[in-house]
Amino acid sequence: MKKRQHIVAGNWKMNKTLEEGRDLAKDIVERLQPSEVIVVLATPFIHLNSIGNVINGISNLKLAAQNCHQEESGAYTGEISVAMLQSVGVEYVIIGHSERREYFNETDELLAKKVNAVLNKGLIPIFCCGEKLDVRESNHQTQLVENQIAKALFHLSAEVFEKVVIAYEPVWAIGTGKTASPEQAQEMHLYIRNLIAKKYGEELAQATTILYGGSANAANAKELFQQPDVDGGLVGGASLKAEDFITIVNSF
Ligand code: PGA
Repeated sequence: MKKRQHIVAGNWKMNKTLEEGRDLAKDIVERLQPSEVIVVLATPFIHLNSIGNVINGISNLKLAAQNCHQEESGAYTGEISVAMLQSVGVEYVIIGHSERREYFNETDELLAKKVNAVLNKGLIPIFCCGEKLDVRESNHQTQLVENQIAKALFHLSAEVFEKVVIAYEPVWAIGTGKTASPEQAQEMHLYIRNLIAKKYGEELAQATTILYGGSANAANAKELFQQPDVDGGLVGGASLKAEDFITIVNSF
């Protein structure tokens, strides 16, 4: 069985021109020290091929897409298939980011199809889940996250589920500077791990990598990563500066 890993993924979102992106990737390559941590760069689609060439040959530095289409190919103008991503060296695909859910109406039913598309080609989905502020305030976050995970992931066999990476990203913490406290993150990560244990057994739950996302930065990463069920981070804003991003990578 695959072992639980430490992963820090930078989600660049819709930021950086090609030149700026290449400069950032080069800066990251220069600062990166050899370690067990898997470092993932989720760049805009259009930069993937070029950034892939910048990071090529560095074994713990991987390329990710921020989204994909669920179909293999066909008349879907403007969309990108998993096979296309694979052909430029992408290994991870972020699925179900809250911005995709919110602005592009992605439902858990659609996300289940995207997860399948990614796994069918042997790539790794980083599946995002997390509650909005009103849900947290009414203390329904565990039911909400359970529902998201059950609907989009629990149709998978144990053998396939073992490839999935989960990112818990409370929506109220994304881009707001309001990080979940290490205790809030730990509580939710443990809840998610227990859900996986109930469905697939304790061994697989212990082997699953669960990342935290939402205003993770160079100052708070250490405390977050010290939590026993937090295996790394999905980082937005702080991934756009190499120095901060590498500080986060070095925070285990
Ligand atoms: P943030 O974004 O670190 O800027 O809050 C995280 C994310 O959306 O993945």
